[in-house]
Amino acid sequence: MSAAQQIAPEAAAAIRQGVMLIGGQWVAAASGETLAVENPAKRLPIGHIPRGGAEDVARAVAAAKAAFPAWSAVAPRDRGRILSRIAEALDARAEELARIVATETGNALRTQARGEAKLAADIFRYFSGLASELKGETLPLGEHVLSYTRREPLGVVGAIVPWNAPVLLTSLKIAPALCAGNTIVLKAAEDAPFGVLLIAEVCNEFAPPGVVNVLTGLGPECGQPLAQHPDIAKLSFTGSTAVGKLIMGWAAERIVPVSLELGGKSPCIVYPDADADWVVDGVVSAMRFTRQSQSCTAGSRLFLHRKIFDGFLDRLSAKVSALKIGDPLDEASDVGTIINKKQFDKVCGYIGEGLKQPGAKLVTGGLPPSSGPLSEGYFTVPTIFAETSNDWRLAREEIFGPVLVAIPWDDEEDAIRMANDSHYGLAGYVFTHDIGRALRAAHRIQAGWVQVNQGLGQVPGHSYGGYKQSGIGREFSLEGMLDSFTQRKNVTVNLNAPPAS
Ligand code: NAI
Ligand code: MG
Repeated sequence: MSAAQQIAPEAAAAIRQGVMLIGGQWVAAASGETLAVENPAKRLPIGHIPRGGAEDVARAVAAAKAAFPAWSAVAPRDRGRILSRIAEALDARAEELARIVATETGNALRTQARGEAKLAADIFRYFSGLASELKGETLPLGEHVLSYTRREPLGVVGAIVPWNAPVLLTSLKIAPALCAGNTIVLKAAEDAPFGVLLIAEVCNEFAPPGVVNVLTGLGPECGQPLAQHPDIAKLSFTGSTAVGKLIMGWAAERIVPVSLELGGKSPCIVYPDADADWVVDGVVSAMRFTRQSQSCTAGSRLFLHRKIFDGFLDRLSAKVSALKIGDPLDEASDVGTIINKKQFDKVCGYIGEGLKQPGAKLVTGGLPPSSGPLSEGYFTVPTIFAETSNDWRLAREEIFGPVLVAIPWDDEEDAIRMANDSHYGLAGYVFTHDIGRALRAAHRIQAGWVQVNQGLGQVPGHSYGGYKQSGIGREFSLEGMLDSFTQRKNVTVNLNAPPAS
């Protein structure tokens, strides 16, 4: 099957095969090697990308370094104007982008990929308006002194993004980095590069050459030399905690500031007064079942009060099993596929472990079908285990697949203790009609983002990031941009210096 047949012609035509963006030029890897990219719903190749390595990293960083002086000198409002043009152009190409993302990631077009493509444009639009906010302060040190601060860009940002929300996360690195006057070298994830390359193409239409460089390749071959390059002034990484630790170690060697957005195992606490259909919907949404739960904010540990435990799970299970799993490009599909074989095997491994765990009760789902149309791709089935213990591997490790564990509680103190008994701390969800109780719980949950009575996704403007091993730094917001992509300089002037004689 050709790429065109699989993707829909307008998106297939937009895919750039075998090239990446360095210094405004579309180039192959120096080695000439390529990597195949697969459609996980069909397990068939949709194209190939350069297998970038250290030499390509060196070229891209040199291009970004050369572009930095002029770009940082562009008046902030004019940088904002460029970001705004990028946002408009991305809006115009949102459907193409959505189709590419659905095809390469397996995320369903209607429920996921379209929203992600629109959000990518919105992120550029949001940051385009913030250039005037790169302000400093004056210090009141007396009439004889002028002491003020400036927000200066850092230089060349090195960014590495994963595959689960590739165009959203790419926009979230490029837009604030550029707004603040930095240039960037970003490595796309090897499983989901084509949407990112489309964003690179749009950026390259409006930003000067070298301001945005996008590399493709494998983590250890391309990501590591980028993270270790001496001319990178700032590292911004989204992905696994394991790789995040490596990045932080490399950053430490050169005292380079680092932002990390890592994994999660987020709690979702349902109080006994919240036994209602809208709460069931909120839990489905918090668990990101329609993204195959490949989300760092998935509310993957469900703490249900014992009084409502069985009835709530019955309704949740009915809701979840009614989700339509199928071809991500089919408008009827609610749920698509897992990204690749490695992740598919990992998710199935956890489900297999749950099935064998004495005491665990399978409420819905289980191992994926081994025959029929769903067995053609990396489709998994939304799965819920009940009566799990918060100590099991299933309840401690980030599965990054649609496996929800439901844990009963009687006492609120116990629920909060279990919720916080995790080395992660990214998100949390609380469902109850009692607002005082909800907010007390929200304040006690050790996580960077707690939602009450809803389980939605991030919006531009919202400082987002992790506690504990879920990461450091915040993105998505004005403060995130100022903290992550600028450095503060103080200038102190003595106004009483004697006149020249
Ligand atoms: P990963 O952390 O290995 O990959 C993320 C990015 O890092 C990719 O661009 C990859 O090429 C790059 N990378 C990998 N190894 C690297 C290295 N040694 N040096 C520099 N860059 C490197 O994540 P992976 O293997 O795709 O997924 C494994 C697990 O990570 C998932 O099951 C999930 O638990 C977690 N994860 C969390 C994400 C989040 O949004 N916080 C996103 C993706 C994965
Ligand atoms: Mg990996």
